[in-house]
Amino acid sequence: MNLCEENTLTATARQRIFSGVQPTGNIHLGNYLGAFRNWVELQDSFETIYCIVDLHAMTVDYEPGKLEAARIDTARILLALGVDPERSLLYTQSQVPGHAELAWILGTMTPMGVLNRMTQFKDKTEMGSSPNLGLYSYPVLMAADILLYRANLVPIGDDQRQHMEMTRDLAERFNNRFGDVFPIPEGYFPEVSSRVMSLTEPHNKMSKSDPQIKSRVAILDDPDVIRKRIRSAVTDSDPEVRYDIDQKPGISNLLEIMAACTRRSVDDLVEEHANGGYGAFKDAVADAVVEELAPFKTAYKALNNGDVRQVLHDAGVEARDMASSYMREVHKVIGVKRY
Ligand code: AMP
Ligand code: TRP
Repeated sequence: MNLCEENTLTATARQRIFSGVQPTGNIHLGNYLGAFRNWVELQDSFETIYCIVDLHAMTVDYEPGKLEAARIDTARILLALGVDPERSLLYTQSQVPGHAELAWILGTMTPMGVLNRMTQFKDKTEMGSSPNLGLYSYPVLMAADILLYRANLVPIGDDQRQHMEMTRDLAERFNNRFGDVFPIPEGYFPEVSSRVMSLTEPHNKMSKSDPQIKSRVAILDDPDVIRKRIRSAVTDSDPEVRYDIDQKPGISNLLEIMAACTRRSVDDLVEEHANGGYGAFKDAVADAVVEELAPFKTAYKALNNGDVRQVLHDAGVEARDMASSYMREVHKVIGVKRY
């Protein structure tokens, strides 16, 4: 397992895992190494619930006609990566009304000052997204997703740390006011590669929405495309391979990617490649990425969309039942009697 000791220790004492992904296409190596690989590995030891968060995806411009295809494709990729419907619930957020309802309730106890500090809202609006209320309260909906199922651990990438902190604060705020309803959840991060950087601008994270296609390796890219992307990754001109985020962000990123794919340590890789030159090093990184991703394309092709839809349907029914019984408890403690 590619987990740091801190994670492993925490995980053994915990029980339920929840995480989410937006159906926004372009799923990439960063999503996989930062989050989805842990989604798959955690299935071995925990109860796992994974959600395609389509309500979140509506907070930025989206095309209604393309949403369904994006939901199915996201699910199909997750199944190809190894999310196993026999062991995990994999469903879409809009199938379960409890997410939006709990978000409203949590929103009544979320100070605007806290939301004003959220960097994702600032980043997205600076990049041109309209500053709508949904985008502003996005982290409250994320907190609701997690708390709805009383999750303990949340496998995510580094960019979600701030949202995770807010989720913990909201859980504590709710519990202080209404009694011990929610476990305080913890983020669960990979030891390396919790923030995979862009291949073209290594100071920015690899992102689904980057207009530069060369900035990322997509999960389903063919081996020759992967090799091309890694070979053209932006690096510096000093030929030594060493880990130095400030002076060598591009090389450090490739070292982390390779460490994650080969499950070897960065130190070990540096020792092997320090003086071999960037060309040979990049080829070795590309080989490691190709080897890691190759089985997924085959698995993706073997699935069909009808089966994927069935998985989402069945898990959605189960998640809805589970959520509605948890919501009954919330209603009770907040004083909302049901007639
Ligand atoms: P998103 O693409 O925002 O739907 O993210 C899905 C999951 O992938 C979340 O847990 C993110 O934290 C994670 N993630 C997204 N981009 C990266 C990245 N560049 N490096 C590591 N993890 C990432
Ligand atoms: N905000 C997450 C992202 O952009 C997606 C998400 C929504 C999520 N709800 C969640 C992740 C609950 C973990 C748990 O990547």
